Amino acid sequence: MARFESSSGVDRLWRFGRALATDPVETLLYLPEEWSQHRDHPVAYDVDTAWEEHLHGLLGAPWPCPEAPRAAELWGTVVQELHECGLAFGRHTYGGYSDADESLARAVRCVVLHRQAVVVVETGVARGVTSRFVLEALEQNGRGHLWSIDLPHPFRPGLHPETGAAVPARQRRAWTYIEGSSRRRLPHLARQLGRVDVFVHDSLHTARNTRFEMDRIGRILAPNGVMLIDDISTHQGFARWTRSTPGITTLVCPSADKEGLFGVVCADGRARPSTG
Ligand SMILES: C[S@@+](CC[C@H](N)C(=O)[O-])C[C@H]1O[C@@H](n2cnc3c(N)ncnc32)[C@H](O)[C@@H]1O
Repeated sequence: MARFESSSGVDRLWRFGRALATDPVETLLYLPEEWSQHRDHPVAYDVDTAWEEHLHGLLGAPWPCPEAPRAAELWGTVVQELHECGLAFGRHTYGGYSDADESLARAVRCVVLHRQAVVVVETGVARGVTSRFVLEALEQNGRGHLWSIDLPHPFRPGLHPETGAAVPARQRRAWTYIEGSSRRRLPHLARQLGRVDVFVHDSLHTARNTRFEMDRIGRILAPNGVMLIDDISTHQGFARWTRSTPGITTLVCPSADKEGLFGVVCADGRARPSTG
């Protein structure tokens, strides 16, 4: 989670006022999300500790994954590059949001690689760790494009220059960065693309926002498309969407540091999952 974090009432009010003056539309759109969190509650899942093997089974990819050493090396490179740029990295270091965890980054890379994805969409960039892992996989596949929708932290403008810092210039040809909230930008992008092979949700982790994004992408997910949804344990969005959507297989996966969970949705290859 993120947003106002644990600051004093006066500080929160000041940050809100500044955000309202800078970007009234996005700030007002954020208010229902803030209110909706009062109805969010943690969900207990059956966590799949062998998720990585099962994910490879669903993808029809070999296990143990021959790509594992390369993924570990890439993770080390990204952490080192961010460190060399003098940027913070890890849990709750982006104004209360977190950089991607190593397990999520690895899962994202394997899904794009093994599915040979061409159209990839993500929400939530921050310093760009998942973006980098997607773009590395697309580069290795030799084709494909990533569209990333991201609202730079509305209440922490000092973080904005860090947006996408993990993505090197040479990979930006295959990357379209779309600034704005998913609520504003995703419907148009979904209409424009018409089909998505892989979707990564890592933006605002409320039930309301997660379901909105899953609904929109679910309508255009390719027959063997995959969604990766971060931070599913703090609200009921993922559980409700997957329960009400036929034609999918799901996995609940622990983050590498065991602090959080992410979910995987694989379409069953026959038809698009209907809206949850
Ligand atoms: C958890 S961070 C993303 C981490 C990133 N995927 C990574 O790999 O490190 C969440 C990002 O989503 C942005 N964000 C917040 N609300 C959003 C919204 N409604 N739509 C799109 N992006 C949003 C945040 O400002 C932040 O940049």
